[in-house]
Amino acid sequence: MTAGLEVRGLVTEFAARGGAVRALHGISFDVGETEIVGIVGESGSGKSTVVRSITRLLVPPGRVAEGSVVFDGRALLDLPERRMRELRGRDIGFVAQNPFSALNPVLRLEKQFANIAKAHGVRADAASRERAVALLEATGVNEPERVIRGYAHELSGGMAQRVVIAMALYLNPRLVIADEPTTALDLTVQRQVLDTLRKLTSGSGRSMLIVTHDLGVVAEYCDRVLVMYRGNLVEQGAVSRVFTAPEHPYTASLLRSVARPAESPNAAEAARAAGPSDRVQPVEAAMSETGGA
Ligand SMILES: Nc1ncnc2c1ncn2[C@@H]1O[C@H](COP(=O)(O)OP(=O)(O)OP(=O)(O)O)[C@@H](O)[C@H]1O
Ligand SMILES: [Mg+2]
Repeated sequence: MTAGLEVRGLVTEFAARGGAVRALHGISFDVGETEIVGIVGESGSGKSTVVRSITRLLVPPGRVAEGSVVFDGRALLDLPERRMRELRGRDIGFVAQNPFSALNPVLRLEKQFANIAKAHGVRADAASRERAVALLEATGVNEPERVIRGYAHELSGGMAQRVVIAMALYLNPRLVIADEPTTALDLTVQRQVLDTLRKLTSGSGRSMLIVTHDLGVVAEYCDRVLVMYRGNLVEQGAVSRVFTAPEHPYTASLLRSVARPAESPNAAEAARAAGPSDRVQPVEAAMSETGGA
């Protein structure tokens, strides 16, 4: 038995007319203590299905048909729902892709932090509120005292994501699972949020499983990477090995597809032929856009 997360032979299906459709075909991997593991793969390859199966946040018609998920010696798929709810939040923090979906629009943020505490048998008092404010500050929220007294709709996307990360870390979970925590954010804010997550993860004994479609994020933040393709885990290994010597053809093509135009003669030629692109933003314009908020 290892500490950390141990996923074996995970098969997840979605019921459909005419029978169940398999979305995961037997996935096995580990996330060791203090490890940061990334999951990559094209849209529809099953990344979210993996993390939702593990956290038991899969909604019908989805269901785990086979396999096991063991976290710190506990078989998660066999736990009663009540025990699983206790574990989520306290031992496993989950950061959803859309931060606003995780926030209650009609409750002040301080009340939502208090509810998380109470739901897990932690007293919601001045000390726990102080901890929430400190976490908001650590995730880069300006004026956390003012923000915590406000509502979700007053937040920008980047701020909402920081609040959700602070909530996920609130009860000091040993494992943080994040499903594309930064897709909705602009590049500068993405980096800030990821830096924050890493800072709060490394050296804390915490491990992290992070879904992303950004190989740059994996290269910079992850120890190991899992490569998904059509519901299969086609390759996994240390980032340094997978990125330099991919074993599976899909991984190799994924890496080629993000090679920068300057490194790929054909792409550079195509770009020149297409003329000036409106996707290329002058640095000054980009700076003033992100600097203002
Ligand atoms: N609610 C659902 N009903 C039926 N099938 C589903 C449902 N959700 C997911 N699937 C199936 O599971 C597969 C994997 O979906 P999943 O959302 O896990 O992909 P993903 O890798 O997270 O994609 P993305 O990068 O777009 O978020 C899909 O291709 C689809 O066939
Ligand atoms: Mg997804």
